[in-house]
Amino acid sequence: MADVSTVLKSSKRSVSDSRFVRACLRQPVDRTPVWFLRQAGRYMPEYMAVRRQHSLLDICRTPDVAAEVTITAAERLDVDAAIIFADLLLPFTPMGLDFEFVNGEGPVVHKPIRTREQIEALRTDRAEELIYVAKAIEKVRSHFAAPRADGDRLGIIGFIGAPFTLASYMIEGGSSRNYVEMKRLMYGDPSSWSLLMEKLNAVLAEYAAQQVQAGADVIQIFDSWAGALAVNDYRDFVLPYTRDLVQRVKALGVPVIYFGVDTASLLSTMSETGCDVLGLDWRVPLDEGWKLAGDTCGVQGNLDPIALFAPQDLLKQRVKDVLDKAANRPGHIFNLGHGIVPGTPVDNVIAVSKWVKELSAR
Ligand code: CP3
Repeated sequence: MADVSTVLKSSKRSVSDSRFVRACLRQPVDRTPVWFLRQAGRYMPEYMAVRRQHSLLDICRTPDVAAEVTITAAERLDVDAAIIFADLLLPFTPMGLDFEFVNGEGPVVHKPIRTREQIEALRTDRAEELIYVAKAIEKVRSHFAAPRADGDRLGIIGFIGAPFTLASYMIEGGSSRNYVEMKRLMYGDPSSWSLLMEKLNAVLAEYAAQQVQAGADVIQIFDSWAGALAVNDYRDFVLPYTRDLVQRVKALGVPVIYFGVDTASLLSTMSETGCDVLGLDWRVPLDEGWKLAGDTCGVQGNLDPIALFAPQDLLKQRVKDVLDKAANRPGHIFNLGHGIVPGTPVDNVIAVSKWVKELSAR
């Protein structure tokens, strides 16, 4: 019998029934696919209703609820892909690092990593504890198994954090402005840094494999805070590990989207990871970002998420600007340059989804 990776490779790399997946592989599509970073979140009344009954971690860890939140957002916005509801920090628990989400503050790691001993103590043998995410993906996948009215199957996105961004939370203990502790460890003890990145990759590769086996069509790797690094530091301390992770995920037979914020100076180096698609933030004009990413790569983005607060005529113009800069080249996925923020008018998100479809029809 063929092993799982061979089966996945042959089934996933053939022409997909999802325009989102085809766009990730830079194949031609009938129109530009669209979805939104953080499309299920606190701006959405349906999510807030679920959130009143469950903590964020309960939602993530209860497959029925995570699947419901994922499906509701994708259907309400009528997008081309559903990203599984989960969080970047979930792998910390099986690695033995306690954390919680504090309202209004974000994630807090109780005992941040500062020493080699702590890195050595991190566990890499319990990734199977994350299987609840795969179970939620199975439910979403079976919900969206049938083609939609236009014949297209909705794409399913699984995701993981990049080792650098996860290391920044482990070391800083939460969100950070200057990343002093992280850079202190990175510069001061490169061998411990390397051990930490390798341990993260071991868990992340297994976690991504669970998600792909459960039916994720594409894996997005979030390196949200990569922009904190100068390009030479990114190249020396981050690129080798991220490239290794991207290659391990691609070997599962799915395209990889690699996303970070404040990355204009890093894009050409980030594309050396071999990712299929680079996520662009909103600061760089899409055509310039694509030039930096190179033509071996698709791009995802890159409307300013705060433009969703603008009057609709201006918002529509911004959507058109992004599409004009992509000029219907194969390999563009419409998205925001970063996640939707609380308070965003839902009607404007729905309108953008509709405009992308109308304005990009080939
Ligand atoms: O539909 C979706 O896209 C939501 C699924 C999702 C969540 N987290 C749920 C969540 C995704 C894709 C993430 C990824 C994530 N988590 C990132 C990378 C994405 C990015 O924006 O660059 C990061 C950096 C994290 C870590 C994290 N989780 C932070 C910094 C915070 C607090 C900030 C905030 O927005 O409050 C969280 C909490 C979190 N994760 C929320 C959601 C919906 C909001 C809190 C809540 O509902 O109680």
